[in-house]
Amino acid sequence: MTKKILLLPGDGIGPEIVKQAEKILKFFIDSGKLDAVLDTELLGGCAYDETGVPMPDETIAKAKASDAILMGAIGGWKYDTLPRELRPERGLLGIREALGLFANLRPAILFPQLAEASSLKPELVSGLDLMIVRELTGGIYFGQPRGIEERQMANGTEKVGFNTMHYSESEIARIMKVAFEIAQKRYGRLCSVEKANVLEVSELWRAGALKAAENYPDVALEHLYVDNATMQLVREPKQFDVMVTGNLFGDILSDCAAMLTGSIGMLPSASFDENGKGLYEPVHGSAPDIAGLDKANPLATILSLEMLLRYSLDEQGLADNIKNAVNKVLDKGLRTSDIMSEGMTELGCEAMGDAVLAELQ
Ligand code: IPM
Ligand code: MG
Repeated sequence: MTKKILLLPGDGIGPEIVKQAEKILKFFIDSGKLDAVLDTELLGGCAYDETGVPMPDETIAKAKASDAILMGAIGGWKYDTLPRELRPERGLLGIREALGLFANLRPAILFPQLAEASSLKPELVSGLDLMIVRELTGGIYFGQPRGIEERQMANGTEKVGFNTMHYSESEIARIMKVAFEIAQKRYGRLCSVEKANVLEVSELWRAGALKAAENYPDVALEHLYVDNATMQLVREPKQFDVMVTGNLFGDILSDCAAMLTGSIGMLPSASFDENGKGLYEPVHGSAPDIAGLDKANPLATILSLEMLLRYSLDEQGLADNIKNAVNKVLDKGLRTSDIMSEGMTELGCEAMGDAVLAELQ
């Protein structure tokens, strides 16, 4: 059956990087390797510019009707002064919520060709392969009540900002199931990260992890407080296999883990709903400082397409082809500026996309 793939290029470097993945998809479709149709929609700042809202109904309707979604990035300085509901980030958080994409997988893998790019000593990161499973539709990002309001305080009236970190047993159980199953398929180790020494929500999180563990006797579970986990991540990152954590801690830890690999420009991610439907996007953001300059690294988006083919369309062969093509390009010394080092050849975004495509052809 023909699969429907929705592209959401978004803002900043989003359109440039998604275009490179689209070239690959078109090549697969035109050469009869993939039976799929492509559609493109607005999300984020570009959607606000065109329609007045960051998440148009049309986009959500098409996203719901598609088999998989490939996103670029959203956000930009010019939207920073908009009211919160109209900002690009609302579009991203909104689509996660509307599609129920509660399980966010963020691998941090060191490409051997890029060992020098890491700010950590090569021996600490060589062979690094860890997976962060971030809960994506709950926690403090979505908890109510939230807001900024005038309150009567000891010294008179002042504004108070507040958010609520909130997890139910069922939300914890379903993310634990995803994390344990991934650990089972990998090296059998799961680290649950929270702040149970201070927060009740974390106490419940830890209890949920322990309860889930009863169903996975083959997975070794450990618990770390988020401050210690952060320290361990830069001290000895290879001790970790899979980490599972809530929305806010996962946001922070995944950027840190990404940087261990030297380039956030290389890392893909996937977000799944309860039925395994996925939205795929690079871990990095919209990089407005280099938008339109043909400098962005399209490899994280191309590797997000690899995950899309593998997990949502069950096209293992095509996914492997992409992975091999990216490795060949790196082996040839081709680099975008973010992963450039001495003796290598620097390419722009478009040329890097073409180089991967040439390997596939
Ligand atoms: C991410 C981003 C988003 C998040 C922002 C853009 C809303 O940082 O995907 O990690 O905080 O989830
Ligand atoms: Mg983030």
